[in-house]
Parts: sequence; structure tokens; C-alpha cells
Amino acid sequence: MWSTCFVGVFLICLVNWTNAISLSVSPTGGNASSPYQYGIMFEDINHSGDGGVYAELIQNRAFQGSTLIPSTLSPWVGIGNASLALQNTSIPLSSSLPTSVNVAAGTGVVGIRNPGFWGIDVKVQTYQGSFWVMGSYNGTITASLESTSSGEVLASTTIKAHSKTGTWSEYHFSLVPTKDAPDSSNTFSLAVDGKGIGSAGLNFNLISLFPPTYKNRPNGMRPDLMEVLKGLNPSFLRMPGGNNLEGRYPPYHWFWNLTIGPLKDRPGRPGPWGYANTDGLGLVEYFQWCDDLEMEPILAVFDGLYLNRTIIPEADLAPYVQDTMNELEFIMGSTDTVYGALRASVGYPKPWNLKYIGNEDNLENGLSSYNSYRFAMYYDAITAKYPDMNIISSTDVLSTPLGNTTEDYHIYTNPPALVQEFNYFDQRTAAHKTLVGEYAITTAANSTARLKYPTWIGSVAEAVFLIGIERNSEHMFGASYAPLLENLNSVQWSPDMISFVADPAKTVLSTSYHLTSLFSKTRFTTVLPVNSTAGFGPCYWVAGLNSDSGEYILKAANYASNSSVPFTVNFGAGSDSTATLTLLTATDINAQNVLGGTNQVITNVTTLVKTSGAFSFDMPSYSALVLTSKIVN
Ligand SMILES: *[C@@H]1O[C@H](CO)[C@@H](O)[C@H](O)[C@H]1NC(C)=O
Ligand SMILES: *[C@@H]1O[C@H](CO)[C@@H](O)[C@H](O)[C@H]1NC(C)=O
Ligand SMILES: *[C@@H]1O[C@H](CO)[C@@H](O)[C@H](O)[C@H]1NC(C)=O
Ligand SMILES: *[C@@H]1O[C@H](CO)[C@@H](O)[C@H](O)[C@H]1NC(C)=O
Ligand SMILES: *[C@@H]1O[C@H](CO)[C@@H](O)[C@H](O)[C@H]1NC(C)=O
Ligand SMILES: *[C@@H]1O[C@H](CO)[C@@H](O)[C@H](O)[C@H]1NC(C)=O
Ligand SMILES: *[C@@H]1O[C@H](CO)[C@@H](O)[C@H](O)[C@H]1NC(C)=O
Ligand SMILES: *[C@@H]1O[C@H](CO)[C@@H](O)[C@H](O)[C@H]1NC(C)=O
Ligand SMILES: *[C@@H]1O[C@H](CO)[C@@H](O)[C@H](O)[C@H]1NC(C)=O
Ligand SMILES: *[C@@H]1O[C@H](CO)[C@@H](O)[C@H](O)[C@H]1NC(C)=O
Ligand SMILES: *[C@@H]1O[C@H](CO)[C@@H](O)[C@H](O)[C@H]1NC(C)=O
Ligand SMILES: *[C@@H]1O[C@H](CO)[C@@H](O)[C@H](O)[C@H]1NC(C)=O
Repeated sequence: MWSTCFVGVFLICLVNWTNAISLSVSPTGGNASSPYQYGIMFEDINHSGDGGVYAELIQNRAFQGSTLIPSTLSPWVGIGNASLALQNTSIPLSSSLPTSVNVAAGTGVVGIRNPGFWGIDVKVQTYQGSFWVMGSYNGTITASLESTSSGEVLASTTIKAHSKTGTWSEYHFSLVPTKDAPDSSNTFSLAVDGKGIGSAGLNFNLISLFPPTYKNRPNGMRPDLMEVLKGLNPSFLRMPGGNNLEGRYPPYHWFWNLTIGPLKDRPGRPGPWGYANTDGLGLVEYFQWCDDLEMEPILAVFDGLYLNRTIIPEADLAPYVQDTMNELEFIMGSTDTVYGALRASVGYPKPWNLKYIGNEDNLENGLSSYNSYRFAMYYDAITAKYPDMNIISSTDVLSTPLGNTTEDYHIYTNPPALVQEFNYFDQRTAAHKTLVGEYAITTAANSTARLKYPTWIGSVAEAVFLIGIERNSEHMFGASYAPLLENLNSVQWSPDMISFVADPAKTVLSTSYHLTSLFSKTRFTTVLPVNSTAGFGPCYWVAGLNSDSGEYILKAANYASNSSVPFTVNFGAGSDSTATLTLLTATDINAQNVLGGTNQVITNVTTLVKTSGAFSFDMPSYSALVLTSKIVN
């Protein structure tokens, strides 16, 4: 309805008043909501693992390579007159790490310098380092952190070496800078007296440096990024991919058994995005990550598809199925099983509890073999041994869904197209729940160009989509935005929910991060029926209650270009006299949170007072909100 007003001679306003929407929430008659609902999907997509969540600061610490991606010295450089060479010494550090860097004898101070993953964050805190060295050397080894911009040595320590020919020795050290570096343009170096080196030179390998890690776990995670992830209140972690699990070329899929145990026994692998993974972030570290953020693990297992469309034929697949059974025994088996004992031998006698297994195989022509034998072979083997295991199929178009298989749905699209999916899950059934394992707005409506960062209009479209998922909670597993993380120095796919560089202060939390965080922190245990005076579009909503926090909750989004919509929400006589409204808007619908920019999402928290039994507020165009009111009886 249109209303016109004239105030004096100066102000003339023409307002489009959309009809008010009244919602009556029924306190009874709802469905139980999924305990998971919001989670995270992770894979090492161009340095979101190595050089990202995994806290190792040294890039290319062990010269890991393969026929696909050969070992390289990069980004190491020599110090002084150092002459560096990659070598496969006759005595390797380990069969997993055969290649090391040789520093030839020379004049003056020689050594090796590493710039980290496009920088090293140097603060007044304790850095733990280690390296292996082999070769005749009489002298000391100096480990340092230096600022590239100021040339200053920020921290330094001297290690007395007793290095011999033919024997690898390991040294540990710590570095405590006396002040914070001005920026993250810093390097790490190991320096020696060139004259003290024997004629065969000195070989270094597995040169590692960690800042304090999340929960102080050895070989652990970057604390700032873990805190950022905690801010998403995630309930599940889907790992280790995606494409990262599959690998691009045979035989380089993700071998779980090459990612466990001491770092010197992890060969690493050529990831699908052009660089070698250290696999320092391995199977055990993924489970510890789940423990630390209290997330339900969803383990993706390889099932015979490589990204270059190599598909393992039915007759050859059995050993791969067996490999997955070994992996499951490693995770869940008692210590008197072969792989349970292997887990204990690498330091983890206590098994983990895994309930969900999936993968991502409806791609690269994988569907027909998935439907005809791959899915069934894995399903049959796994459920025979673990009858309660919930298997997530990587497609929602599985020709014959088995048991109570959960189905994984992925969507990357533009804002209006995602809003169109609001009803997509209405037809699903509880017999086969749906996991939305990957979703994101990737382009603007009028373009095919990939966005660099999420936009606010895209985040509102995602809010509409998430409301559609939550309304169908009785047959949904949950949803995870993808990709989760990107190192802005090595971007393979944009947009991502979180963008980061070496400097924690520069982490970019996208508009979608803020939206997801709000929705994820306010969970339903029961989704309640709602009577409304209007249909869905351009406003969308879902209501429910949380029996743990004792609250009624409304989540809503307004995906309309032209108007603010007056809302009245009645939670019934059982709700408190006040409610808290958290409203997210942005000044520009195309606003993006970018590196170095300010947060474009405006969060307005207000307290509403019940009037005539209901709470009233205006919902601005392109906004999302959460309204909560305590249950008083
Ligand atoms: C919703 O509408 C139905 C049908 O008109 C009515 O029976 C029910 O009481 C209403 N519920 C609420 C909470 O208003
Ligand atoms: C080390 O051995 C690997 C595997 O045989 C080979 O591909 C690589 O070229 C060797 N590197 C050097 C520096 O000799
Ligand atoms: C490098 O070697 C040259 C020639 O041996 C020598 O004159 C020079 O001092 C050395 N530089 C350093 C930094 O040690
Ligand atoms: C280091 O000292 C040992 C023992 O004195 C000696 O055998 C070795 O040759 C020395 N190495 C070098 C590089 O000077
Ligand atoms: C995939 O890569 C493997 C190993 O390089 C090669 O043998 C195979 O032909 C490739 N498959 C396809 C479908 O290109
Ligand atoms: C890892 O598993 C693969 C596949 O089952 C097997 O071929 C390989 O020998 C294992 N490697 C190690 C080091 O256990
Ligand atoms: C269905 O899934 C549940 C776990 O969610 C499991 O306990 C049950 O055994 C499964 N039933 C079938 C028939 O697969
Ligand atoms: C596409 O839409 C955006 C947002 O509405 C607008 O800023 C941009 O100018 C449009 N681009 C083209 C090519 O129409
Ligand atoms: C992925 O990372 C590698 C290694 O850092 C880099 O060379 C490559 O350009 C990156 N890929 C993309 C698409 O950015
Ligand atoms: C509860 O589930 C049933 C069956 O799927 C559905 O028809 C009904 O709309 C759901 N109620 C709510 C409040 O979501
Ligand atoms: C307001 O926006 C809605 C949805 O975007 C659209 O359907 C409607 O036509 C618009 N109304 C006016 C008056 O522009
Ligand atoms: C927050 O919302 C209230 C109520 O709608 C409004 O009065 C206030 O101006 C808003 N504050 C900001 C900072 O937008």
C-alpha cells in the first residue's frame, strides 16, 4: 500500500509500505531440530591448511616432493656466500623424507633463510623450533627471526652442534622475541660458520618453527584462526575434502596412513592445487581439532575417483575398500586390533567415536560408477562391521539409496537463484536426511565472474536458504559453507568465508561469516509451526525454541530491494515480556568485507517490549535477524 505525506513545504515523502506481517508461533506441535545444523567443511585448498590453520611457520620445511610436484628449494634462500643444493643423501633422514638441503662449506657466515608462508607473525611469545642436521661441523648454529622491513634481529639463539658425517641429529630450540615485529614481513634463518663445515657440506631437513598453538597442542593449530572458527559455533567438521581427498592424479589421493605418526615419517603428497602438502595436519590432528572445538567428525574417505576422471574399476576396488576399513579401525578400534594398536603406537590409545562417513563423488563423470558399484561396495563393507554408522552419499540423486543414507547436496550460485531454493528441501524425507555439505553465493546475479569476497546481498540470500533448511530440520542434517578458508597469497577459489594472511590482525571475516555466526549461535532444539498473515517472499522466517537456553526464537530475512517490512511476532503467553532483536544490515547491498577494510555488516541489538501479546519491529530491506524471548512458563 502507498502512503503519501506532505510536511510543510520542504519535506515530501512517498513511502511504499509493504503490508505488515503478523506471525503467531505455536508453542507446541513442532519437530525436533537437527543437533548439527551448522558446521564447517575443510580441505587444504591452496594453503588454508599448510600456512593456514596448521600453525607451522616454515614453508617447505622438509623438501617434500613427488614425480608430480618435484621437491624444490623455494622459498628458501642462502645466507652469505652459501651455496645450496637439494640432495638425496645416501643416508636419508627417513624413507619418507629423502631430500634435504645441502649447505656447502664457505667463507663467513652461511646458512638458509625462509620467509614463511608469505610472512611470519613475530610477537613477544615463545616459538618452538627444531631441525635435523647431518655432516661434519664444528661450531654453533644460530637460529633467528629477522625483520625484512627494518633488518633487525627480533630473536636469536645459539645451538651447540655436534654434527657428524653419516648421522642425522635433531636439535630443539626456542626463540623469544623481545618485541613485536612492525609487520609480518619477517624471515627465519639457520646460520653457521662456513669454515667449520666439512668438505661434503652440511645437510638440513625438517626445519620447523611453531608459535604457541591452540590449546598448546604440539604440532597444533593457529590459535587466532581456531578462535575465528569457534565464533561460527560449528557442530560438525567435514574433512579432509572434497577434492583434496580425491587428488588429481592416481595414485595421489589422500592416504590416511601417510599422515600419522612422527613428522619425519610423513612423506606429504602433491595436493590437487599445484603444491606439496606436508600432511603435518593429518588424521589425528583432524580428530583433535574436532575434540577442541567440540565438533562431530564427518570423515570423507576415498572411494575410487580421481579428479582427472580416473575411476577404479569394480574388479580393482576391493583393496581400496579394505584401506577404508583399516582407517576406521585406526580411528575406532580397540588397542588389541591391528590398527587400534597402530593408533596407540603413535600416542593415542583412546579411540575416537566416529558416526558419519561421506565423500564427494558426484563430479568428474563419477556418478554412474558411484551409482552402479562404488557407493554400494563401501556401504556394504562399512555397515557390515559398523551397523550404526551413518553413511552420507555424495549425491542426492543416488539411484538406490541404501539403508538410511544421508544425502549430500552442494550448491554454488547467485543470490536470486539461491533464494529460489528456499523450498528445495520441502520434499525431502526423514528416511534420507540431507546434508548441505557445500553452499555459497559465488557470483552476482548479472555476472558469471567469481566474486572475490562474499557480498551482503549474497549473505542475505544465504540467510533465506538457511531458513529454508532450518524449516525442514526434521529431515535435514545441517549445512556448511564452502570453502571455509583461503590464504590470500595463494587463492585457488573465491569467495571464501574467511580470508587470512600471516598477520592475524588482518584476517577478513566476510559478510557471510557474520550472518552464519548469528544463525549458528542461536539454535533450535524444536522447530515450531507458525501461522502468518503473508506468504514467503520477499520475507522468509522460521521459528522454534531452544529447550537448553529456554528461549523462543525467530530467524528471518528480508530479500527485497524496496521496503522495510513491519513485523509482529507472537510467541504466545509463555514468552517473557521482553525480547532481544539482533538485526544485521549493511549500508550497501554489494558491500564486501575486504583485506584492510572495516566490517560492513551493521549489527544492531535492541530490546523489545511485548505489546498486546506480541513483539513489533521493522525489518529493513536486505536484512537478516534473530529474535529471542525467554520461555517463562
Ligand atoms: C494457527 O492456525 C490454526 C488454523 O487456523 C489454528 O487452529 C491455530 O490455533 C493457529 N495457531 C496459532 C498459534 O495461532
Ligand atoms: C630424489 O629422489 C627422488 C625420487 O627418486 C627424485 O625424483 C628426485 O629428483 C631426487 N632429488 C634429487 C635432488 O636428487
Ligand atoms: C663471500 O666470499 C668472498 C670471496 O671468498 C669474500 O670475499 C666475501 O667476504 C664473502 N662474503 C661473505 C658475506 O662472507
Ligand atoms: C670437527 O672436529 C672433529 C674432532 O676434533 C674432527 O674430526 C673433524 O674433522 C672436525 N670437522 C671439521 C669440519 O673441522
Ligand atoms: C589421469 O592421470 C593418470 C596418471 O597420470 C593417467 O594415467 C590417466 O590416463 C589420466 N586419466 C585421464 C582420464 O586423463
Ligand atoms: C598405506 O596404505 C596403503 C593402501 O592400503 C598401503 O599400500 C601402504 O603400504 C600403506 N603405507 C604405509 C606406510 O603404511
Ligand atoms: C540409521 O541410522 C542410525 C544412526 O543415525 C543407525 O543407528 C541405524 O542403525 C541406521 N539404520 C539403518 C537401517 O541403516
Ligand atoms: C551488476 O549488478 C551489480 C549489483 O546490482 C551492479 O553494481 C553492477 O553495476 C552490475 N553490473 C552490470 C554489468 O550490469
Ligand atoms: C596454489 O598454490 C600454488 C603454490 O603456492 C601456487 O603456485 C598456485 O598458483 C596456486 N594456485 C592458484 C590457482 O592460485
Ligand atoms: C514437522 O514435520 C512434518 C513432516 O515432515 C511436516 O509436515 C511439518 O510441517 C513439520 N512441522 C514443522 C513445524 O516444521
Ligand atoms: C518490491 O520488491 C519486491 C521483491 O523484490 C517486488 O516483487 C515488488 O514488485 C517491489 N515493489 C515495488 C513497488 O517496487
Ligand atoms: C538500532 O535499532 C533501533 C530500533 O530500530 C534504532 O532506533 C536505532 O537507531 C538503531 N541503531 C543503529 C546504530 O542503527
